[in-house]
Amino acid sequence: MEPETRKLLKMRRNINNILTPVPQWLRNAVFYQVYPQSYQDSNGDGIGDLPGLISRLDYIQALGVDAIWLNPVFESPFGDAGYDITDYYRIAPRYGTNADAKRLFQQAHKRGLKVILDLVAGHTSDRHPWFVESAASANNLLAGRYIWTTARRVKPEGFVAGKGKRDGCYKPNFFDCQPALNYGYGKPDPRHPWEQPVDAAGPQATLAALRDIMRFWLEQGCDGFRVDMAASLIKNDPGYKKTRQLWNDIRNELGGQYPDCVLIAEWGNPKQSIRAGFHIDFMLHFGVPGYPSLFFNETGAFHHPGCFFDHRGKGSFTEFLRNWRAQYEATKGKGFIAIPSANHDFQRPNSGPRDASQLRIVWAFLLTWPGIPFIYYGDEIGMRFVEDLPDKEGSVLPLLYGGANRAGARTPMQWNSSAGNAGFSTANAKRLYLPLDPDPRRPTVSAQTADPDSLLNFIRTLTALRKSHPALGSSAPVERLPVGPRSYPFVYMREAKGRRILIALNPKNQPAEVRLLLNRTCTLKPILADKTVVTVENSKVNLIMKGAAFGIFEVVTESRR
Ligand code: GLC
Repeated sequence: MEPETRKLLKMRRNINNILTPVPQWLRNAVFYQVYPQSYQDSNGDGIGDLPGLISRLDYIQALGVDAIWLNPVFESPFGDAGYDITDYYRIAPRYGTNADAKRLFQQAHKRGLKVILDLVAGHTSDRHPWFVESAASANNLLAGRYIWTTARRVKPEGFVAGKGKRDGCYKPNFFDCQPALNYGYGKPDPRHPWEQPVDAAGPQATLAALRDIMRFWLEQGCDGFRVDMAASLIKNDPGYKKTRQLWNDIRNELGGQYPDCVLIAEWGNPKQSIRAGFHIDFMLHFGVPGYPSLFFNETGAFHHPGCFFDHRGKGSFTEFLRNWRAQYEATKGKGFIAIPSANHDFQRPNSGPRDASQLRIVWAFLLTWPGIPFIYYGDEIGMRFVEDLPDKEGSVLPLLYGGANRAGARTPMQWNSSAGNAGFSTANAKRLYLPLDPDPRRPTVSAQTADPDSLLNFIRTLTALRKSHPALGSSAPVERLPVGPRSYPFVYMREAKGRRILIALNPKNQPAEVRLLLNRTCTLKPILADKTVVTVENSKVNLIMKGAAFGIFEVVTESRR
């Protein structure tokens, strides 16, 4: 390569790495994830839909959240609950129409809520017309839309033999019914003709198609995308160099035209994804370790021995904190780490032996930690992860991904105690998308709305608190306070604009007493506390916590009093 060309290419890369600003509204945002098929059915077919969701927007607004992330609602044969799309431009009839989607955006905006769609960028359904055409022949316009070998007998590991006329095997991205779209390879192996460079015609056309889809929905009024398997687009891409370039370009293009639009990655490594141009990425059950060590126990889709939020007190914050801190240092000021309460792929906080007082401690953490909290629908009333459900629309994971059943986190929203399936649907119970939690004491929105001491009202209080205290916002720093060698309680300080908030969490069923030395004479004013008292002498704080206790205190220094 000519030195001039190399210089130009380097310049272009550097320019692209300058990203458009992070939207202001994200700086203190809380998200709410809606699993559309399980939220609210409006037409009695047993499956939630967009008009149903629209009818619940007032409820969502009252939670004190800023945005909704909606799992895929596009045309699909539902081999993976909608993550297998056949038409990116059409709302699946079971959810409503494109006009309903537009109405959803408008109605949400009226209430100050944003709507984020799920963008399944890495694969389609094997029934997508693109795939059907590309499976028909190696010589048509869509032949290069997917990754095909040159013959059926050429079958590298993980590839699947095509069933159409084309003599070849394709690369799936997740289930076999989800062929990987061809965005090319970072380091193509010249011995494998199906490994095309990213600037080849096939990958470039795929990318153009993706951009069209994004632009279409932004024009309809959506506010951004949660990108499914966002790291998976370019194959064999050491250091995600080319993948980064791809998302950097998209971020800059969209950010220029839609400055409030947000890109959320399902990547599980904020350091990598935020550098790639995403505004938000999660800590999850995969990727950077730590999340399971806080929340997962012996029940649910994924297990972890001795997590922190557990009455047995066998866990610790160490693994989470170490990894979170490294991710935070690398991303602060550029994007946000999201900690979800759960999602459609793994268990809810209410699983296993966690009881009502334990759940509050989980929430006291989730809504006072930096970054962006994601509330998974139903977790706000403490819905349970329901065990022993059937495989529903690919809820059981491929063995390669552990083979767990995710259905337990996807059961219908529990609105009230009416005979009509807890207010979710008027359909016969047998026709529901998934059965309701059969527990006669299952929590409901209506009962919890009426009870001032409910989890729902506790969460509303916490979201309001987060908004009213800059120290609890997404960007305010956090510092762990030393409590000696033990793991319980976990105590931390948040600070912004000279105001400090101290949070102490003791999920263990044993009392704990700790002494803390603060750097100034102060008093601790309780904001929300359960079974926790403090006494302060000058700058010495004595924190006395019963088992399963938490406390959120404002630290008032002498000069402020
Ligand atoms: C993501 C989704 C999951 C889906 C998979 C394949 O992990 O969250 O539900 O099955 O991608 O699209």
